[in-house]
Amino acid sequence: MTGQAIGVFDSGIGGLSVLKALWAAMPHEDFIYIADSGHAPYGERDEAHVLARSRAIVQHLVRHKVKALVIACNTATAAAIQLLRAEYPGLPLIGVEPALKPAVALSQTGRIGVMATRSTLASAKFRALLAAQSGGAKDVHFIVQPCDGLAHAIETSADTGDTTRTQALCAHYTRAIGEFGTQVGQIDTLVLGCTHYPFASEHLRALVGPEVQLMDNGEAVARQTRRLIQASLQPSGAGQRPGEISLFTTGQPQHLQAAARRWLGLSAGVGVLVAI
Ligand code: DGL
Repeated sequence: MTGQAIGVFDSGIGGLSVLKALWAAMPHEDFIYIADSGHAPYGERDEAHVLARSRAIVQHLVRHKVKALVIACNTATAAAIQLLRAEYPGLPLIGVEPALKPAVALSQTGRIGVMATRSTLASAKFRALLAAQSGGAKDVHFIVQPCDGLAHAIETSADTGDTTRTQALCAHYTRAIGEFGTQVGQIDTLVLGCTHYPFASEHLRALVGPEVQLMDNGEAVARQTRRLIQASLQPSGAGQRPGEISLFTTGQPQHLQAAARRWLGLSAGVGVLVAI
């Protein structure tokens, strides 16, 4: 790997959905991805835990001189981005948040489901986002659903290929959100407010039907990161060579390796980080 990489992290493998979009948008950049699977899930832990873990990982990536850092986790963004921006004023930090704004723009029925972790939904950052998007000119109603256990089920399925638990939880939570469809009174847009959930989109799609929009923010985050890099930083590779992706985990390496192979087609080896 030459030049400076872009750091990306998540509580686990979910951030690979964002890495996929980043890689597609910037194929000549190098990326260092950290899955904090040894301390996951974040979504059902308190904010202090998520903040402490985010700080430790950012510190580690900064020591490796990343030129920008993407928090590919809604839960960690909600808990930590404000503080991290204050602690690292010179580091371009990009976070991810549930795609409420694009959902409002797309929805025809004005009924929007939001699936996210309990911790994201309880955060002040999410409450502010919800208030801002509820108070606009368009008459919209959000049905917000904490999805305990779903990120963990998706994590586990990456390794085993067994999606029984993921499917059962998707069925349970979409039923709790309400009736999906494009008729008046039905939910026509579903926000996937956790970076793990796009890896369950096939099951969600089967449950909500083909006409419902599934929204995640991976591509928007990738566009924003590319803009930042082009505007203020040195793009890598100058279009010459393909970028490299380095994968690290605080958990089981075979787990991240299986997920990267399954969802990104990556056969790269995975480094293990024990001390962060
Ligand atoms: N992928 C993370 C997010 O976007 C959370 C998963 C977890 O609960 O650890 O919120």
